[in-house]
Amino acid sequence: MLLSSQRNRMIYFDNAATSFPKPPAVISAMCDYMTKTGGNPGRSAHMLSFAAGETVFAARQLLAELFGVSDPMRAVMLFNATDALNLAIQGILRPGDHAVTTSMEHNSTARPLFELQKAGRIEVSVASAGPDGKTAPEQIERLITDKTKLVVVNHVSNVFGTVQPIERIGRVCRKSGAAFLVDAAQSAGCININLERDNIDLLACAGHKGLLGPTGTGALVISDSFDYTKIRPLRFGGTGSLSDRVEQPDFLPDIFESGTLNAAGLAGLAEGLKFIAAYPGGAQAIGRRERELAAGFVESAAEAVRGFRTYTGSVETGTVAFNIDGISSAQLAGRLSEQGIMSRAGLHCAPLAHQTMNTFPAGNVRFSLGCFNTEEEIAIAVKALAAVV
Ligand code: ALA
Repeated sequence: MLLSSQRNRMIYFDNAATSFPKPPAVISAMCDYMTKTGGNPGRSAHMLSFAAGETVFAARQLLAELFGVSDPMRAVMLFNATDALNLAIQGILRPGDHAVTTSMEHNSTARPLFELQKAGRIEVSVASAGPDGKTAPEQIERLITDKTKLVVVNHVSNVFGTVQPIERIGRVCRKSGAAFLVDAAQSAGCININLERDNIDLLACAGHKGLLGPTGTGALVISDSFDYTKIRPLRFGGTGSLSDRVEQPDFLPDIFESGTLNAAGLAGLAEGLKFIAAYPGGAQAIGRRERELAAGFVESAAEAVRGFRTYTGSVETGTVAFNIDGISSAQLAGRLSEQGIMSRAGLHCAPLAHQTMNTFPAGNVRFSLGCFNTEEEIAIAVKALAAVV
């Protein structure tokens, strides 16, 4: 437990793990749900259940609006991005299918794919990103065969902050007929994404990162044109609908939402989404602000900190990975933590990305900035790094 004096001087640069702090409205909406709304959404015919249903619907509608989807029921509420990726990957791929992914993926994509391959059910091909961490659409196109049913691409690397050309990759997928699943865990809320314009069939996102909601929230957003019946549900059970039958409902979102939803979390997520919608310039402007802070950090640290190294030619988002010669990433993050600066070191659950960028197995330190970070905090962190050296 942090003492309030420690919290006051804390600098939080770990927004890629989960964003912090949250807008105050997120917390008050969650408290309101716990103290006033209370009911189970979509279950009972009383006022509190209706109110909870409205709360969940608000989050659905805001998510659909953010990603340019016209039917809010296509925002399937899940528990995190991993949950959404598993539903899409395991739900779509059938024995004998082939899937294509990239060498910049997080384990939330790599593990479900490689588990299916290990079980002998599917074949996986991995498109290698270049030294800049980018995967060329042509690389993916070359790997697609007539058995390819799914292409999964991480939009923004959780380690290096590199951005993949998803719109162009989406075009390749459209041409081949393979479903295109984007892991937007790090990009949702920081980059303008439109499923229609960007040729995305399925978008997996976390609610607790750039969307500023609490942990335990996430979604699989299904484009208006994608036939959702191609996805087999992974979880079966009560939905509050068709209660006279033992068969799973076949309509959205119930087909994929068995069991009570995290309604308190979704009350918070709705407020996070409203915060983004009200931010002048929206998600794109939040991302720009974070990128500017990160670029300022790299520039100052390169000048002031001996042995400071980054791994990409340019800063594309608020996430930067670095090392300082002569000190391990774990030691460095530990020293920063002692000074109240929260970062993440090691391999960040992304061994493929580290291998691609030649930082495996040593890893690196990651600063992932959020919209509440400031120039002053960056200056303090640069000083702290210089002091470590
Ligand atoms: N995937 C999250 C991170 O990068 C947890 O830290």
